[in-house]
Amino acid sequence: MSELDGTVAVVTGGSRGIGRAIAQALAQAGAKVAVVGRSGESAQRAAAELPGEGHGGYACDVADPEQVNTTVGAIEAGQGPVGILVNNAGITRDNILLRMKDEEFDEVIAANLKGAFNFTRAVTRGMMKRRAGAILNITSVVGLTGNAGQANYAASKAGMVGLTKSVAKELASRGIRCNAIAPGFIETDMTDALNESQVEALLGQIPLGALGGPEDIAEAAVFLVSPRARYITGQVLAVDGGMVM
Ligand code: NAI
Repeated sequence: MSELDGTVAVVTGGSRGIGRAIAQALAQAGAKVAVVGRSGESAQRAAAELPGEGHGGYACDVADPEQVNTTVGAIEAGQGPVGILVNNAGITRDNILLRMKDEEFDEVIAANLKGAFNFTRAVTRGMMKRRAGAILNITSVVGLTGNAGQANYAASKAGMVGLTKSVAKELASRGIRCNAIAPGFIETDMTDALNESQVEALLGQIPLGALGGPEDIAEAAVFLVSPRARYITGQVLAVDGGMVM
């Protein structure tokens, strides 16, 4: 029997990057994955490429509570009750504080923090009834340390840490665990924009001396949502080559 044994696992932003690697690792471990993305076509394509059977792809803007509730309804009707939720969808709109526009601040909070809240609220009713569930939030080391030029993004990621701990405390007695992973610098489309000298400077701050890959996050993600982590809740695990200790 596979570790996740047909559990339905929702991965937001699962069409590419870290979310895609998490979706692949969950499918490998036996989950039926629901890939959620802004583009339904990309989400369905990503779901079709996963190993095993029973996966699905859904178009949904995580920032929109109505779309989120409808999507969770469609997932439960089509694939079954949700046992695992990975809030991975995220965006950056970097700018220095004095130039940061209201929209840049609001959009990042809406996608990263409100999006995680929207999906958490939508899946927990069912999880509470079944007295089982695992939620994982993908935050960032900058949510722990802050970062110049990322006031909006760092605030959204720090907010996710508070969300993680509150959900963990509120729902532990209902058999639901909630943890977070704080990735360091991981090679994806999000970090592609960095130039060579920026990468050099970053490497100097990483004790293990290398950028991470999406699969490094996926390894930790599968562990934290699996029954192997049954006694772990409310924790933030930095997966960052030792950058933040
Ligand atoms: P990415 O940009 O490659 O992928 C993000 C995914 O989220 C995309 O598929 C995008 O369409 C989706 N998404 C964004 N807003 C959405 C919305 N409103 N509704 C639905 N889907 C939405 O980024 P990457 O690097 O894979 O990042 C994944 C997560 O990891 C993000 O939350 C990011 O903040 C976090 N992270 C990434 C780090 C890195 O070094 N790449 C470092 C720390 C955290």
